[in-house]
Amino acid sequence: MSFNIAIDGPAGAGKSTIAKAAARALGFIYVDTGAMYRALALYVLTHPIDAGDEAAVARAMPGIDVTIAYADGAQQVLLNGENVTDRIRDEQVGNMASKISAYGPVREKLLGLQRSLAARNDVIMDGRDIGTHVLPEAPLKIYLTASVEARAQRRYKELTEKGVTASLEAVAQDIKARDHNDMTRTIAPLRQAEDAVYVDTSDMDIPQVIERIIELYHDRVPGCPSGPQNGGVDGCR
Ligand code: DC
Repeated sequence: MSFNIAIDGPAGAGKSTIAKAAARALGFIYVDTGAMYRALALYVLTHPIDAGDEAAVARAMPGIDVTIAYADGAQQVLLNGENVTDRIRDEQVGNMASKISAYGPVREKLLGLQRSLAARNDVIMDGRDIGTHVLPEAPLKIYLTASVEARAQRRYKELTEKGVTASLEAVAQDIKARDHNDMTRTIAPLRQAEDAVYVDTSDMDIPQVIERIIELYHDRVPGCPSGPQNGGVDGCR
């Protein structure tokens, strides 16, 4: 039986950085479900499809293949066989992912892929509906969040460090709009699962958050060391 950790939370809360590092420390596989939605969004953006028309987006779904692979432990996303891991990171793709992820047929398309990865592997899976929908039986669920101000500051710093011109105000507006979209959609909206641990990272640095996640894992599975050797210890997973 695999052990699954579900991490949900709003855009810019640091989920992927934290989940990636915690997965490495615990010897788990990191699954970034946002990247799967982003791959579908990239397809919509690069084809003559009206993203505002749910039926048109739904019609495109059967022609799209999203596959997950791993290279040196890092998740790679293949869209119809093409590695699009780097191309899906920009804001335009993220915003399109937020828009089309409100559509039932889009969510349905990815659910099976997400569940089968979790059934076959010990995973830390992050997204918006992992604890509430995708893996409702996960033994450890975390709701990772931070204030809009803290998230906007982090994203702004990230963008300016990459040499992208941005305004803090615009970044904050973007984050608020994304929160609104992701939290108010009808199907599988972002919310904290009842049994999820709430972690507010506004005043925490990255190592502190990673440590907190590892601590929470050990609370659930007492006596299990962290690291890839876990599986060798009696009673550990
Ligand atoms: O985490 P991210 O920014 O890469 O996600 C992009 C969008 O994809 C997010 O705004 C909403 C959608 N998403 C979702 O609806 N459910 C998930 N489990 C993950 C992402």
